[in-house]
Amino acid sequence: MKIVYTSATGFTKQYAEMLSQELQIAALPLSDAKKSLEKGEEIIYMGWLNGGKVEGLRSATSHFGIIAVCAVGMGSPTATVTHDIRSANGFSCPCFYLQGGFDMSKLTGINKVKMQMVFSSFSKQLPPPEKRNAEENKMYDLFVNGGSFVSREKLRIVVDWYDSYRLIIKK
Ligand SMILES: Cc1cc2nc3c(=O)[nH]c(=O)nc-3n(C[C@H](O)[C@H](O)[C@H](O)COP(=O)(O)O)c2cc1C
Repeated sequence: MKIVYTSATGFTKQYAEMLSQELQIAALPLSDAKKSLEKGEEIIYMGWLNGGKVEGLRSATSHFGIIAVCAVGMGSPTATVTHDIRSANGFSCPCFYLQGGFDMSKLTGINKVKMQMVFSSFSKQLPPPEKRNAEENKMYDLFVNGGSFVSREKLRIVVDWYDSYRLIIKK
């Protein structure tokens, strides 16, 4: 069992390394995993959300046996987030959403251009500052100043799931 991840600006990598410590299993980037792991090896896959798609998941699926997916995005979790991620990405194994962060300064190329466009249309739709709700203020601040929501506490749900997965597998 390994943790395999794809990270553009480092938030998913941070979660993968924390989860590696918590579960005592190695974490490695997808590009390395494809060279060094056996085809079909069981993995927990972690990837950042790109327009609702889990980055790297399609490639990881064709190489490995994915037992769970952790998707890392900038948005606050919603009641339907894991259902939405499963249906947009077409998988049925356990899914966890982890709020990562945002850092425009670390983005490059097409990803930076896309997020500049997203920010521009988001800003145009925002009400005037005095009428914004807490979530709108939070997202505006995240776009402008960047920020991280990464915490070990958010991985608790993944660690608890893995503990019960191991018990079931042992039976
Ligand atoms: C092109 C692009 C599309 C994104 N789409 C989403 C999205 O659909 N949902 C979301 O919550 N976050 C979205 N984000 C934010 C990233 O998923 C978030 O910043 C994540 O923490 C990045 O992880 P990383 O640092 O491992 O690359 C997007 C970011 C970029 C650059």
